[in-house]
Amino acid sequence: MSGKASYSLLKCNLAGKMSKIFIGLNHFLYKQIFKRILFLTNSEFIHEGLTAFGELLGTVYFFNFLISKLIKIEDKSLEQNVIGIEFKNPVGLAAGFDYNGKLTKVTSSLGFGFETIGTITNKPYEGNPGPRLGRLVKSRALMVNKGFKNPGIEKILKKLKKSKFSIPVGISIGKTNTTKHMTQNEAVKDITDTFIKAEKSRIKFSYYELNISCPNLYGDISFYPPENLENLLKALANLKLKRPVFIKMPIEKTDKEIIQMLDVITKFQVVGVIFGNLQKDRKDPSLDREELNKYKIGFFSGKPTEKRSNELIKLAYKKYGKKLIIIGCGGIFNGKDAYKKIRLGATLVQFITGMIFEGPQLAAQINLELIGLLKNDGYKNIAEAIGIDNR
Ligand SMILES: Cc1cc2nc3c(=O)[nH]c(=O)nc-3n(C[C@H](O)[C@H](O)[C@H](O)COP(=O)(O)O)c2cc1C
Repeated sequence: MSGKASYSLLKCNLAGKMSKIFIGLNHFLYKQIFKRILFLTNSEFIHEGLTAFGELLGTVYFFNFLISKLIKIEDKSLEQNVIGIEFKNPVGLAAGFDYNGKLTKVTSSLGFGFETIGTITNKPYEGNPGPRLGRLVKSRALMVNKGFKNPGIEKILKKLKKSKFSIPVGISIGKTNTTKHMTQNEAVKDITDTFIKAEKSRIKFSYYELNISCPNLYGDISFYPPENLENLLKALANLKLKRPVFIKMPIEKTDKEIIQMLDVITKFQVVGVIFGNLQKDRKDPSLDREELNKYKIGFFSGKPTEKRSNELIKLAYKKYGKKLIIIGCGGIFNGKDAYKKIRLGATLVQFITGMIFEGPQLAAQINLELIGLLKNDGYKNIAEAIGIDNR
């Protein structure tokens, strides 16, 4: 090895060790100090405060440079080109955390490989009557009752107009939440109008998520019956969208119902599905009864979603693994949780709740753990592990 090559290897190893220490320290400090303080205060207030703070930090070049040098994990084994999009790593921020598109600079510095903004709707919505967010510490879950709180697509597009993204950023689009009655056809038009507005913008986002599975909306609109889903996807197909579409799937449906939905989805130019959204089943055994009784409304993220998310990744990969890219989402709190989803068939993974419980270093931490797990199993690249437990 030449002197130059061994020097750069040494530099790489040193940087790797520094990142490991910094990630470990962050995790420790977050769990022992910051989380204890943050968890004393109203969760929605903390969420809003942290995203505003994150947006501010995103404007400070030095902070982003430093954090990304200290925390970001890069390794060839994590890189993938998925439907023409370069992902530096498979770990993403799921829809619902950065619903206003404030964090795209910071998420990249924190080591996320991609992020989804939204869910955004055609018309703004101030959010469901509270409580909109709560913590279930024993269940390692959050209660969510936001109902697509967002400022509407036009405002978001205006805000993102000059943004340059250093990771793939997607926009999650759903039906406007309103107490006014809407027919299925009106709902389809509402959604397609939002896509048209996003498509016309010059913002360089990489993909769409079509969110058909939010459990906190008014009215009886549903895209679960195959004929309703087909109508929506036909209308979207007519738009000839330039970016790929993933569909955010429910987890409360039976295997048979999910297969029926996938049968429809695979007839269209949908590149993939995300399993999945919140847990609606209040009887789920992973929910602590005492904590659950504090919340009469809302649905649940985190650990109560994990089992069903994994079952559905397995199901979808078995039946449609060659046709659809699967994004695994639900209850990821560490590298092993993420790796399990990948081995069941997920190409990429996303999370929110894990970060609230484990700290902002979680994306980098998961990437670090994934590198070790892949190496242990003798894989050179993450793509080799996809679906390996499900063939
Ligand atoms: C506070 C919060 C808000 C959410 N809002 C959305 C949303 O707007 N759109 C969406 O597709 N999913 C939303 N979700 C669901 C998450 O994207 C994810 O599917 C679910 O929480 C499971 O992942 P997790 O266990 O890693 O949180 C939200 C979840 C949380 C916790």
